[in-house]
Amino acid sequence: MSFFSDKALKELDEIKKRYPTRRAAALPALYVAQKEFGWLSPEAIDAVARHLTLPPAVVKGTATFYSMYKHRQVGRHLIQVCTNVSCMIFGAENLLGLLEEKYGVTPGGTSPDGRFSLVIMECIGACDKAPAMLVDEDFHSDLTRNGIINILESYK
Ligand code: FES
Repeated sequence: MSFFSDKALKELDEIKKRYPTRRAAALPALYVAQKEFGWLSPEAIDAVARHLTLPPAVVKGTATFYSMYKHRQVGRHLIQVCTNVSCMIFGAENLLGLLEEKYGVTPGGTSPDGRFSLVIMECIGACDKAPAMLVDEDFHSDLTRNGIINILESYK
């Protein structure tokens, strides 16, 4: 049985065909692995290395060099709340308190049910719509206490 799902294997094969060298394919292949498991375990890095027939140390070096790869298990959804000046003035701290109260998640942590991980962001370029956050790749602004809960309830 393969380490990856059939869907991920298909993506990995397409990546191998698309890139001129196996090393060049390491970045997108690691991204596929992260998408599949939510983070890059040592086993996932080894599986990518095997799939690309690269030394595991090369793939691990690539995976640890870039900050977009996660090296520990995280929640199913990543909440990134801006706490820079505009967002702070418009209540970002209050929203963080609410996230702890409602979901038990604090900055740098994961909710006990594994649903959300939370990180603090610097300005995400929406100061005129503060406070703002990203949930996975979705942007949300003009957040209120009720609004943020309504938004997060759509992420299961
Ligand atoms: S300060 Fe939060 S988006 Fe700019």
